[in-house]
Amino acid sequence: MTETLSPQEQGKRAAGEAAAALVEDGMRLGLGTGSTVRWVLEALGRRIREEGLRVTGIPTSEQTAERARALGIPLTDFAATEALDLCIDGADEVERGTLRLIKGLGGALLREKIVAEASSRFVAVVDASKIVEVLGEKAPLPVEVTAFGWEATARRLTALGGAPVLRQRDGAAVRTDGGNLVLDCGGFAPIRDPDGLQRAVRSIAGVVETGLFLGGAEQAIIGQADGTTTSLRPMP
Ligand code: A5P
Repeated sequence: MTETLSPQEQGKRAAGEAAAALVEDGMRLGLGTGSTVRWVLEALGRRIREEGLRVTGIPTSEQTAERARALGIPLTDFAATEALDLCIDGADEVERGTLRLIKGLGGALLREKIVAEASSRFVAVVDASKIVEVLGEKAPLPVEVTAFGWEATARRLTALGGAPVLRQRDGAAVRTDGGNLVLDCGGFAPIRDPDGLQRAVRSIAGVVETGLFLGGAEQAIIGQADGTTTSLRPMP
């Protein structure tokens, strides 16, 4: 059965497929999380089946691990693999010019950051709606916190101006793969000093990680509704 895709989903597919085409034989990959990465995984699975492409990947979530296994993408972990050649991941916002990112609306930010930092290259795959001029324009900043004392951590974030909201689904607090909670902080926008904000938020006990990815991607592949892609690089 052919899936009918919305214009936004067409963009996600185009971006995902273009990123999967960057993968070379023998690469060790970071496999991101989310609805755009879904298309990366589909395309990689196809290349493995049809071209005999040999890769291994470290998944950034249980969801991605499950999908990758179903598609025949061999998985590895940090016990067996010291470094990764390329990480491909989605983003909730990509800042034009710097390619700094906000990530974590899918709840996988901690694992995503560990995998991104272990990768020599990072490519973001997004649809056009994710490009912003200043971080915080559209997405709240997700902050992963320990369940113990999260209310106290939330008060500290409130004092910083973050306006944290506990992420919930069906009336229950959402748990990350690491068993932590997520506070979505819409109050920091616009984020004009992301390095300073990162330091301030990380200095609060109970904060595990923030969704600010400040290393910047080397490239953002942007899928358009007509199925074409454009690409952004950081400004020198
Ligand atoms: C997961 O925690 C996130 O960082 C995702 O990578 C991000 O939310 C992008 O997801 P979509 O591709 O589903 O928009």
